Amino acid sequence: MKKFVKKVNSAEKLLANYYQKERKRQKNTLNLIASENYPSKKVLTYSGSLLINKYAEGYPQARYYQGCQNIDKIEELAIDLAKKLFKVEYANVQPHSGSQANQAVYLALLKPGDKILSLNLLAGGHLTHGAKVNFSGTFYQVHHYNLDPVSQKLNYPEIDQMTQEIKPKLIIAGYSAYSLKIDFAQFRKIADKIGAYLLADIAHVAGLVAVGLFPSPVPYADVTTFTTHKTLRGPRGAVILTKKELGKKIDKAVFPGNQGGPNLAIIAAKAQCFYEVLQPAFKVYQKKVLENAQIMADYFQNQGVKVISGGTETHLLLIDTKNSYNLTGKAAAEKLEKAGIICNKNMLPYDEEKP
Ligand SMILES: Cc1ncc(COP(=O)(O)O)c(C=O)c1O
Repeated sequence: MKKFVKKVNSAEKLLANYYQKERKRQKNTLNLIASENYPSKKVLTYSGSLLINKYAEGYPQARYYQGCQNIDKIEELAIDLAKKLFKVEYANVQPHSGSQANQAVYLALLKPGDKILSLNLLAGGHLTHGAKVNFSGTFYQVHHYNLDPVSQKLNYPEIDQMTQEIKPKLIIAGYSAYSLKIDFAQFRKIADKIGAYLLADIAHVAGLVAVGLFPSPVPYADVTTFTTHKTLRGPRGAVILTKKELGKKIDKAVFPGNQGGPNLAIIAAKAQCFYEVLQPAFKVYQKKVLENAQIMADYFQNQGVKVISGGTETHLLLIDTKNSYNLTGKAAAEKLEKAGIICNKNMLPYDEEKP
């Protein structure tokens, strides 16, 4: 108890100390985690600004609170910029995270028990794409496609066949740890054969899509979700894009469906991020990201290291540490951290190790 009281009394100092330590850690390590990024000072400033004080349940011009005249303009600007950036009819900029964006899509398009077809978590899918430990695996009937066991690439004929057999209401394309391009037109064709919805989850590659360095799903998908904090280099949050006819359904599923008040500080930071992404310098930066990933993948492969899917066409690459170095991903990531290089570990297609 005495120890606890002492800790409470010095909490402010402790907090400042932890913060400074984390600042130093970020400065002094080489970060290779593909889902992390470093937003601009302006994005950071808006994220932690007085805009966080405002409650604004609802949408611009239709709020449950007074005093929203300025924040309505901020949210409208973020929506307009998102629409311009991704050449899309409708955008909802309120989701607090990629997971909540996906939750809202399921709530809008599915009923509990409906069937989803998505990539296996082991092969690079995301938890919210139907993992048993996630809400998506609890409320929906989830079936998984896998990567080709030899090429470790998406196998479109197999996805087509599974779609015909399972008849899912929703097919998901877009992943957490798949390093190659996705043929969204092919997914659309497969979905159309049975009248399924197509969700493109471009959480990882949104920055590349925004500048035309990765195929855009927007012409093909019914709904596209993405996080703003990965390649897009914005604040922690997400956005949902869709066609006009599904817009209201999606809005309702975000609020009041699965969120309360939006975070206007983050929405302003999203608008700032979209403005930055629209500048020519962002494309130069994304090209360098691709070049760096390519050089690393080539280097590893020339050393005889096994790179999953045979290389990368994106910002990320996955190394089979077990077959290349006889180390589990966990052991390899820990060794790298000791050397100041920060990575994350992932399951591999057909992996026999535990997560
Ligand atoms: C493909 C994909 N979808 C959704 C998410 C979820 O995003 P968040 O961590 O913001 O909930 C992630 C995060 O890693 C992701 O990779």
